[in-house]
Amino acid sequence: MTGRNKKLAKYLADYLEKNGAEVTLQEMIDADAFELVNYDALIVDTYTYHDGEVPDEAQDFFDDLKDVDLEGTKFAVLGSSSKDHLHFGRAVDYFTMELNSSNGEQVADSVKIDKDPDADDLKRVDMLGDNVLKSLK
Ligand SMILES: Cc1cc2nc3c(=O)[nH]c(=O)nc-3n(C[C@H](O)[C@H](O)[C@H](O)COP(=O)(O)O)c2cc1C
Repeated sequence: MTGRNKKLAKYLADYLEKNGAEVTLQEMIDADAFELVNYDALIVDTYTYHDGEVPDEAQDFFDDLKDVDLEGTKFAVLGSSSKDHLHFGRAVDYFTMELNSSNGEQVADSVKIDKDPDADDLKRVDMLGDNVLKSLK
């Protein structure tokens, strides 16, 4: 909606690439949940909408995860949402639970950011990236 999560995803992708990873960035509306096992790791970045719901354009991807066996694929979840709304960042919780249920291996604590990230938030994002990279070594 405001482009915050696109910017955040790009920031994290740049950070991972600088640290030696090969990154594919995809909009969730274009992503295929059944292809995820072909990657070493998955990072979901989501906003929250409609009183604590998964964004409409992420819903098909989210629903497909129920039918996917991630076979231990490493994952982490983050997202910018807003404390001005009820259920702050609940889509981050939904994705975290769903990816665990789909047999993914969570390798970093999920990160919720209130609107635009400040310096401390970006440190938490870097740490999430570090944990994903460490899990792949
Ligand atoms: C109509 C509307 C509903 C929203 N509902 C929630 C919500 O339930 N929980 C939440 O934490 N944030 C909510 N938000 C805030 C957005 O998640 C937040 O602005 C986010 O940073 C937008 O990210 P984006 O610019 O990447 O789309 C809502 C925003 C709007 C405009």
